Formats: sequence, C-alpha cells, structure tokens
Amino acid sequence: MTPQDGRAQPFVVLGVSAGIAAFKAVEVCRRLVDAGIHVAPVLTDRATRFVGKATFDALGSEPAQMSLWDEASPIPHTRLGQRADLIVVVPATADLLARYANGLADDLLTTTLVATAAPVVVCPAMHTEMWEHASVQDNLAVLRSRGVTVVPPAEGRLAGGDVGTGRMAEPSVIVATVLELLGRAGAEGHTGGGDGGDGLATGDLVGVRVVVSAGGTREPIDPVRFITNRSSGKQGHALAEAALRRGADVVLVTTTDRAVSDGVTVDRVDSAAEMEAAMFARSQTADVVIMAAAVADFRPKAAWDSKLHKVDGVPELLLEATPDILSELGRRRRKGQVLAGFAAETEQVSERAVAKLAAKGVDLMVANDVSAAGVGFDHDTNEVTIFGADGSVNGVPLRTKDAVADAILDRVCALLSAP
Ligand code: CTP
Repeated sequence: MTPQDGRAQPFVVLGVSAGIAAFKAVEVCRRLVDAGIHVAPVLTDRATRFVGKATFDALGSEPAQMSLWDEASPIPHTRLGQRADLIVVVPATADLLARYANGLADDLLTTTLVATAAPVVVCPAMHTEMWEHASVQDNLAVLRSRGVTVVPPAEGRLAGGDVGTGRMAEPSVIVATVLELLGRAGAEGHTGGGDGGDGLATGDLVGVRVVVSAGGTREPIDPVRFITNRSSGKQGHALAEAALRRGADVVLVTTTDRAVSDGVTVDRVDSAAEMEAAMFARSQTADVVIMAAAVADFRPKAAWDSKLHKVDGVPELLLEATPDILSELGRRRRKGQVLAGFAAETEQVSERAVAKLAAKGVDLMVANDVSAAGVGFDHDTNEVTIFGADGSVNGVPLRTKDAVADAILDRVCALLSAP
C-alpha cells in the first residue's frame, strides 16, 4: 500500500484505549516515528488514567487528541479517518472491541474508526477470563470478517500477577505488522541507527554465527526416484537472509536451488543423512541453530543402484526411520547455543509443538497450522506461534515469511542477551 495522495510519509492513527498495556503504546509510537511514519495519537479519556497525554504529545508526530470538541474543526474524526493510511489500536480493550464491532461512535477514537476506509489493526489486551468470554471472541470474529487485522495477545504474566492468555503482543510484533501492512516491512531497524535496546536494529546479530536448515530432504529409491515432502524451503531461506541483514555470519544447509545472497555460506544437501552430517559439522561452532528443514521421517532401507523397470514387477519398498537431527543437536549443543525447531501440524498444533519442544530439548519451537489458508508449504506468507522453553508463547499473525523470520530472530536475540 502506498500513502494516500502520493504523500511520501504514511499517516498512522495510533489509538490508545484504557488498559494497563497502554504503556506499551508509548514504545509503539516511538518505533513508528523512528521508522519514518507520521503518527497521530488518539487517546480515549480513560486511557489517560494509565498514560499521560503529554507523553504522546512529545513522542508523536502531532499533539495527541482526545476529544471531538477541542479542535477548531468540528469534524476531527473525519479528518483523521480520511487522512489515515492505517489505524492501529494499542491496546484494544474488551470495551473498545465491543463498541467498534457494533459501530458505536461516542468518542474521538471510535468515531474515527467508524469514519475510515483505511486498514485497521487491533491489539487486544485483557485478563484471560475476559479474552475467553464469548462476547469478546464474537466481536473479534465480526471485526475479522470485516477485514480488521487482529494481533493476538500472548500468554504470560498479566496485571495482578496472574498468568494466562491476554497479555498484549510485544511492540516489535505490532510495529512489524503495521509496517508490513503499509508495504514497509523492514523499515524499522534496518535503516541504521540505534535500536533503543530492543534488539531490532541493524547489527543486532553482528558476530553471531547462525546455522539454518531449509527445504525437504529427498530419500533415494533408485537413481531417478526419491521420497520427499511439500516443503519449499522458503521460510528457512527467509531466516538465513534475515540473519544476514542483521549482521550474522550465516550458514544455510539447504536442499533447494533457490538463489541465496552473497554473504551466506551455502551447503547444498539432498538426503536426511547428508543434512545430518552438514548440521552436525556446522553446529559445532554455531551460536544459533535453526532447523527449518522438513526432514523425511522415513527412507528406503536400501536404494537400488540402477533404475527400476516396470517389466521387473512392482518393487517392495522397505522403509526405515531417519535420524532425528534436531533431537541429536539438542543433546550435542554447546553451552549458550540457542536451538530452534519447527512444527508443521494440521491438528492439535499447540499441544504437539509444546511436546516436541520438550522432547527435542530446544529453546524455541515455531508452530504453524499448515491446514490454514496462506500458511506453510510453498506460500509466501506464514502465521506462526513461537513457543519458548521458558513458557513464553508469541503469536505472529499472517505475514510474509521475511517478517516471520524477523519475529523469530527477535526471540533468538532475546535469548542470546538473556543473563
Ligand atoms: N526434525 C529433524 N529430524 C527428523 C525429523 C524432524 O531434525 N528426522 C526436525 C525438523 O526439522 C523440525 C522438528 O524436528 O524442526 C519437528 O519436525 P516434525 O516433522 O514436526 O516432527 P517429527 O519429530 O518428525 O514428528 P512427526 O513428523 O511424527 O510429527
């Protein structure tokens, strides 16, 4: 999407409603402005019980607005609604979602939401009981059906010390979603400058040795036939490229012929056995190892040396299990090495991903539901949930595989800098 009227700088309305997570909206505001976005903050009255208007006056691109009645213009909401290239609501409380879903327009923020044709992103934050309430989920379903992007809350510690789902997504995820929708993915952090301590700027992986595997392995039956799977290698390649952009020394162990940037060291492999050998060798000196490859679970016990012919009848194919490379990497890993795997599932996604996380001894397990539209094999987009061995759960909404790669590397960076 390009800014309206040929304006070079996208215009984003940052709506803030009344939740504890409003403090994170300050960080979202700062990051968007740093990324070259014109940010117009709009606060509800009650939001100012959590954060001050003066903070947004100082950090936004224009003074924060709260009322339909303060401006000389009697119609500030239509000015904002028409000018906006995007509206993002951080946080979106249960009350705000209900009012928006029902078209209620009784303050500047809700009026602006109803008066715009621009894309809208909502970032819910609330206690688990409220998040799970049917009314909230119904309102979200209505909003989704109207094209509103919902950045789902994560699981974690909530206000008051309870633990559960409802904690608002991190500013890095929200900002990346906004930039992605504005067609400016990568505008943050990759244009140089400081990173504000958030691990997103250029160079946050400088000096870090990253090994990534990608693609589906091919297990030979005879010289012309093999068993493989539907993996395209796109997500693994996107991870390698994102790590390179962030300054890492990158080795990519891949089964695909995709083009790779100069600067990435590539080991081309075919079978699980070849991938195993390359990963064991490369991981010995690595700081970060990410198994994005789809390793075949079974392979022919023995491959025929020469081509099989029909006239010789139907061959009996005996299969054996391949080695579980990730589990072995978990056993062999160096002190301080960060290890991540992927779980492509079609059902019981979270349960299976969490079970694999523990069984394989990894720090992060990136799960996706490959039965969902636009997700997983061969798509350019992905929607994942990143489970951490520390109990963290981070949802990453449907975005390009490049953006998903950066979200995964954000988690990796956080682990590398953990004490
Ligand atoms: N993996 C691996 N070696 C294997 C199989 C899988 O290293 N032989 C890795 C994958 O690269 C991925 C993770 O383990 O990072 C999970 O892969 P997945 O296929 O989801 O799990 P499996 O352990 O193979 O279990 P199943 O296919 O039965 O679900």
